[in-house]
Amino acid sequence: MRTHFCGEIRATDIGSEITLSGWVHRRRDHGGVIFIDLRDREGLIQVVFDPDAEEAFATAERVRSEYVLRVTGKVRARPEGTENPELPTGEVELLGRKLEILNTAETPPFQVDVEDQEVSEELRLRYRYIDLRRPQMLERLKLRSEVVRVLRNFLDDNGFMDIETPMLTRATPEGARDYLVPSRTHPGSFFALPQSPQLFKQLLMMSGLERYYQIVRCFRDEDLRADRQPEFTQLDIETSFMDEEQIMALMEGMMRGLFRRVLGVELPDPFPRITHAEAMRRFASDKPDLRIPLELVDVADLLVDVEFKVFSGPANDPAGRVAALRLPQGGKLSRKEIDDYTRFVGIYGAKGLAYIKVNDPAKGREGLQSPILKFLPDVAIDGIMSRTGAEAGDLIFFGADKAAVVNESLGALRVRLGHDCGLLEKGWRPLWVVDFPMFEWDEKERRWYSLHHPFTSPKDEHVDRLESDPGACHSRAYDMVLNGTELGGGSMRIYRADVQQRVFRALGIDDQEAQDKFGFLLEALKYGCPPHGGVAFGLDRLVMLMSDAHSIRDVMAFPKTQSAACLLTQAPSPVSDAQLRELGIRLRRSVAKESTGEG
Ligand code: AMO
Ligand code: AMP
Repeated sequence: MRTHFCGEIRATDIGSEITLSGWVHRRRDHGGVIFIDLRDREGLIQVVFDPDAEEAFATAERVRSEYVLRVTGKVRARPEGTENPELPTGEVELLGRKLEILNTAETPPFQVDVEDQEVSEELRLRYRYIDLRRPQMLERLKLRSEVVRVLRNFLDDNGFMDIETPMLTRATPEGARDYLVPSRTHPGSFFALPQSPQLFKQLLMMSGLERYYQIVRCFRDEDLRADRQPEFTQLDIETSFMDEEQIMALMEGMMRGLFRRVLGVELPDPFPRITHAEAMRRFASDKPDLRIPLELVDVADLLVDVEFKVFSGPANDPAGRVAALRLPQGGKLSRKEIDDYTRFVGIYGAKGLAYIKVNDPAKGREGLQSPILKFLPDVAIDGIMSRTGAEAGDLIFFGADKAAVVNESLGALRVRLGHDCGLLEKGWRPLWVVDFPMFEWDEKERRWYSLHHPFTSPKDEHVDRLESDPGACHSRAYDMVLNGTELGGGSMRIYRADVQQRVFRALGIDDQEAQDKFGFLLEALKYGCPPHGGVAFGLDRLVMLMSDAHSIRDVMAFPKTQSAACLLTQAPSPVSDAQLRELGIRLRRSVAKESTGEG
């Protein structure tokens, strides 16, 4: 079918007789000569048909975009002045002698040969197989494949075994809703698709496999965003007899090697580390984007006595936070822009966004501008100015509320300001976030939840406080963050049955429930479980960052929409009554109506 790929022809091939197969990227009829850009996976090349090759020329006249062709001819240099330096094949062209139309194509729903066109994502997903023909999409899938190859090689070289774990399984709690699969052979019972292979990889350590990895699909029914899909891929890793220092060092090495190999980028050695508490204090985020040179400072202690209740309330509340965010030269912001940011933080629950414009800090109160100045005494103002390091022209924003609200809102504002004001520094800023709390309190449910998953080991010195003071316990967990995205997370695991039971109790899971849900794990822990730990990386997120894509959908061949549907295959879809009957399932009335389109 072919002697070469279109994209690999170079000046050294001039004079050779070759055969190419591919798609018509573009066709131009220059009165007397027909130019066809022929495209395959490796790129494109210009093919020329002139009337001397009578039959081929006649065929070329019938050709349209996206037809599939086979062409034979001779490679020649492009005439002087017509070379295309943008194209790897730009010095040459193929003079077509023989042309065969292998298949015709209807006019595609959008153009493949125009890069930045305004095509709705809906249309792209509906015709994904055409969308993937676009060189940019193809490049991303190639990059993804290369990333996987480099990662596998690294892990193979380091003694990791690739082992598959079940897709039809029991729920593993990672904090999302499960995708359920009804069992025909056990009517009324359901499998859950794995949110991660967490428990299986731990069991493999108990089996003595020492070092496991898997590039594995995970399923989570959660609210979707640009970096979340209902099914996504993890690079999942687990090791025995290594501690967190060794695991983090190995994983950093893997990432440094990957970036060097694939992008020619040197990542820092070692990656910086910050504690969860410090990340929240300085960046109001557990996945700080270190490219943004803005930091929060706490000012609650300066405001405990002020009459302005918006500040003094949270300043006196142990669960409150009052923080300031200085935007250098932010004084330029218009009233409207500040109002927009006020609305923006509102999305995250903030009740307002107080600010002070700094005209001339040397003049004290007179050099400042703000509706809240009148509520603040000089000492508080002076304290805020010196602590934030305010300079002429700056703007200082304030968040005052429960700490969770301040962190959510100012954390998001910091990122937004970084982007809006063009403050992002160039480059790659990985880091580890360590020393996480074991649990977080859910005010609505009035119970503790694991910050990671319930198999995460507490720090040795906190084991005795698990039930008495869960809020004070820290875990042996670590997250790898890159440019504001959580790339991966892992931890040392609990390997003693008694500790695992105490963690379940701290989570309000009583012994019976623990037995029902995780009896197999508790049992396995009794039969000689080695100390073990691991990590899982979001492969889609990693490739998204490396390919500079804005969404993980752009680095997945067949992603789902925001509402977790596949526009190409129309999944999910209703099933027949016969199938339901076989599964012992009867739909609720409202659902049944909807799915048959009657409702
Ligand atoms: P975690 O839940 O942090 O840890 O997941 C690991 C990594 O997977 C990626 N990720 C996602 N990517 C795309 N879409 C999603 N819906 C999605 N959810 C998670 C993130 C995340 O950092 N079993 C533990 C790991 C361990 O402890 O070893 C786990 O699954 O990049
Ligand atoms: P008010 O007295 O409610 O009009 O608020 C005065 C200023 O404080 C306005 O600029 C509000 O946007 C701001 N503000 C109100 N509540 C908060 C809050 N919880 N955190 C930060 N600023 C706030």
